[in-house]
Amino acid sequence: MLSPITWNDGSIRIIEQTLLPTEERWVDLATVDEVADAIRRLAIRGAPEIGVAAAMGCALAAFRYSGTERQEMISEVSEAAQVLAGTRPTAVNLFWALDRMKTRLAALDAEEKDIHEMREGLLAEAQAIREQDLEFCLAIGRHGAELLPDPVTVITHCNAGALATAGYGTALGVIRAAKEAGKDIRVFADETRPLLQGARLTTWELMKDNIDVTLICDNAAGHVMRQGLIHACIVGADRIAANGDTANKIGTYSLAVLARRHGIAFYVAAPSSTVDLSLESGDKIPIEQRAATEVTTPRGTVFAPEGVQVLNPAFDVTPASLITAIITERGVVKNQPLGRGLQDILGQ
Ligand code: MRU
Repeated sequence: MLSPITWNDGSIRIIEQTLLPTEERWVDLATVDEVADAIRRLAIRGAPEIGVAAAMGCALAAFRYSGTERQEMISEVSEAAQVLAGTRPTAVNLFWALDRMKTRLAALDAEEKDIHEMREGLLAEAQAIREQDLEFCLAIGRHGAELLPDPVTVITHCNAGALATAGYGTALGVIRAAKEAGKDIRVFADETRPLLQGARLTTWELMKDNIDVTLICDNAAGHVMRQGLIHACIVGADRIAANGDTANKIGTYSLAVLARRHGIAFYVAAPSSTVDLSLESGDKIPIEQRAATEVTTPRGTVFAPEGVQVLNPAFDVTPASLITAIITERGVVKNQPLGRGLQDILGQ
């Protein structure tokens, strides 16, 4: 199974996602700054993968520390957590993973572990976050696959696949599980402007698994729905507020509005680590704004006049009322208001 991120003997091995699909290059990140840079550049991307990277980044800081003072090492790990927290604001998995690492660091400190034991303890926590994410994706897949008819054609947006997680994927995990359950499943993948995660990554992943996938431009989604080609939408999430409002890649909201217009089920697949019960609604979710050049000059090719004003939000928020169900590793929340079901399933 493809896993885009692993611990590799004192460094973090990742697949460099900016080069896909033309080049499959694996690189080793040896410093916290390299990890932070990889997250900012989207070499590491997708909410769960960002969480795993942040956790491993903290462990990396501990392994890089070459001194002999426990408190000095603790400060370096805390500083690393701060640097990593500043990389991307929307995916809550980043902050969830950093909180777990900080809690573990404090516990190791309280137990007066030595430097070697603290390093191993932090690495064990990061590995547990990675392994747990993989298990969560498999469970999301099982729950989600049961919701789909057979045969079924789904549409997905961006990449919520193996590349965006520790492996298997959330939205693409549901698709994989449906196929593994013997369902006849066909996928339409939105290209996902401006960075083309759908065109570059989702199609690459699905074609590798021999899953029937057709690439469409983002603005073709309404047309294929109107033609009656789509039975369900399945997307991932970067942050789900307590009321079920969901932030995901820009364009997700438009897809949800189209789905409602055409009477098509709209599913969000995400692990509990993506749910932020501290925010009462999606209005409070911070939306990352990215560089204008991603829109005007993709991959160095000029698409727009120099100096044009650009708005480039990386995410939008889909209101819970447009979501048919949220598929988590703990089960499916499908009764409106979704917030109540989310609290029941996750809020202990
Ligand atoms: O900007 P990206 O590529 O990190 O955005 C990714 C998404 O929007 C995904 O749908 C989301 O993180 C869920 S990944 C399982």
